Amino acid sequence: MWKPDRGSEQPLYQQIADDLERRISYGEFPPGSLLPSERKLAEQLGVNRSTVILAYSELRSLGIIESQTGSGTRVSKFKWGMTPRHTPNWHRYVEGGSFLPNLTFLRRIREALQKDKSLIDFASGELGADLSPVEEINQLMLENHYTEYLGYDNPQGFVPLREALVGFLSHYRNIQTTDSSILITSGSQQSLYLITQCLLAPGDAVAIEDPSYCYSLPMFQSAGLRLFRLPVDNHGVKPEDIRALYKKHRIKMLFINPNFQNPSGALLHPERRRELLEVASELGLPIVEDDPFSLTAYNGSPPPPLKSMDTIGSVLYIGSLSKIAASGLRVGWMVAPHSVIDRLADARQQMDFGLSVIPQRVAAQFLKSAHVQPHLERLRMNLQFKRDLLMEALDRELPGLITYTAPQGGLHLWCRIIPEVQDNRLLEEAIRQGVIFAPGSVYGSDSGYVRFTFARARAEDIGPGIAKFAAALRSTIR
Ligand SMILES: Cc1ncc(COP(=O)(O)O)c(C=O)c1O
Repeated sequence: MWKPDRGSEQPLYQQIADDLERRISYGEFPPGSLLPSERKLAEQLGVNRSTVILAYSELRSLGIIESQTGSGTRVSKFKWGMTPRHTPNWHRYVEGGSFLPNLTFLRRIREALQKDKSLIDFASGELGADLSPVEEINQLMLENHYTEYLGYDNPQGFVPLREALVGFLSHYRNIQTTDSSILITSGSQQSLYLITQCLLAPGDAVAIEDPSYCYSLPMFQSAGLRLFRLPVDNHGVKPEDIRALYKKHRIKMLFINPNFQNPSGALLHPERRRELLEVASELGLPIVEDDPFSLTAYNGSPPPPLKSMDTIGSVLYIGSLSKIAASGLRVGWMVAPHSVIDRLADARQQMDFGLSVIPQRVAAQFLKSAHVQPHLERLRMNLQFKRDLLMEALDRELPGLITYTAPQGGLHLWCRIIPEVQDNRLLEEAIRQGVIFAPGSVYGSDSGYVRFTFARARAEDIGPGIAKFAAALRSTIR
């Protein structure tokens, strides 16, 4: 007799529902016939009764079966009888597409945060309202009077925003570019998506850092790319590792987050930056420089981006307003050679006709305003303050149980947990205690790490949040 596969990624109830649907459609259970009781089927299949209840309720919602109190569960006559109407099996469609779902941990975190608004949030990698220029953006939005017709705009991006970025990137990042070399995107995420979909092909090998934000994105696997990992130490990746990977796997592209890397906080060493560009030029290897955090450097002197040192055009530079102003604006950019920008702008036309002009206008005004400099100074100071609160709380609550290197910029603290813990048990216990974080395995191949984002939670919640985390950790290792 068929039994559900406990090793499968598909939930047990779904497997049971699919099997019953198959048996019904093959006539094993004709229209109107009685199905086994929940208890009996649970016994036959060796599962909990609640799993069968879920399977039946799934089939009921599709109109395949009907239940009436006292007379059991029957195959629907309406659906399987005279009338030829069939509800599409949406599950098959949902699972059939080529775009993979998010990692289980990330879905769990999203669900927990949606359900319980009181959770102290060390998981969401973004600024809290206290660090975002909310008032300034509000004021700019009020000043916006839309006298012009809001029609389709250039899919490459709103020209005044691209012009504002030319000045911003030159002043703050020493990147000299022109508006025709800039593509506006819906955050850095879309830049990564466009690169993986439009510049690479299924089967291509690419290198990503380990640990890395990219590791958490099934978008790379959805694009059919083969991922190879480069270990990150306190000074970032080692250029000789890239050469070795190229020799072995002919990698087509390198994805790197050199400044206050997510999640490790590592800063690529200046010498390694130089060597990395040399390796790239020797191999003709494109580098995607993902640079969302550099302007958060607490000492106010962000390191030079690879793009500013790139004399031959090896670097695709991506940035966004998410980690320095507001993630919900969804304004990001890519600086790249014209041929790349043209190709990706053409793809944008097919995907969504470009980003809405409204956030682009607000972003252009913000970047040209006198608000930027004082906002960035305040941001750096407050981030450092919150980082210190987090480190003090960890030292106080978990002496000897956790180690970390203090980051010099960015939003995250990457911690190693010394005793052995299971990521999922720790996460569930932390949620029960009222706090949430990102398990390290989301970002890399090593277990036993935790990423705390200190930018999102309110300063006064950081200490209590870590006390809750400490209680969760202690009860998990017990
Ligand atoms: C390294 C890195 N790149 C890209 C992104 C995507 O950010 P956004 O699309 O909001 O700009 C993130 C978000 O956490 C990130 O940490």
